[in-house]
Amino acid sequence: MNIKFLKVFLVASAGIATALYIYAKKNVPSQLPMDKVIGTAKIGGPFNLIDQNRKIKTDKDLLGKYAVIYFGYTFCPDVCPMGMHSFSEALSRLPELQGRIQPVFISVDPQRDKPEEIKKFLKTFHPSFWGLTGEPAQIEQAKEAYKVYAVQQKNEHGSEHYLIDHSSIFYVFSPDGSFVGHFTHATSVDEMVQKLKKWAAL
Ligand code: NI
Repeated sequence: MNIKFLKVFLVASAGIATALYIYAKKNVPSQLPMDKVIGTAKIGGPFNLIDQNRKIKTDKDLLGKYAVIYFGYTFCPDVCPMGMHSFSEALSRLPELQGRIQPVFISVDPQRDKPEEIKKFLKTFHPSFWGLTGEPAQIEQAKEAYKVYAVQQKNEHGSEHYLIDHSSIFYVFSPDGSFVGHFTHATSVDEMVQKLKKWAAL
């Protein structure tokens, strides 16, 4: 094999290898359903907070029930109330799951969300909600365990009227505490109902 032929051979092999690689890649499903993608991450963990009645609540108190956990804040102008409203509506359409699902709201705004504030906020939503808050460090620990993003926005007035950018996901856990799936504030009530029925029938 002379040098010239070798060069042509190498270039051709590289071309074939690239084509094979592209072919193989195309045949691997790259669009996995979101549930699966999130399901591979370790979501959830210990928390130690107080509820709207100042009772201590920990992750252990959720064992034995389907837990649906949402992180938000009571001053939220849109996303949180919207998601909480849809989810409350979904719960009220599932009387057969009454008592088997424990909905939990965890504040990402411990500075303003004291138990009294959360109690007021929850009056608009499903009565079974726990509304949890705590010291900033306890909230940070919970956020970390549940992979929650929440950052206070800068505001020019330096007042109490700040907003918080935050992820808006309802995490669902089985009675043994393992993560089963999620939906968001934008999920339709119908879809929430379908998913909860499916998961709770497992
Ligand atoms: Ni919000």
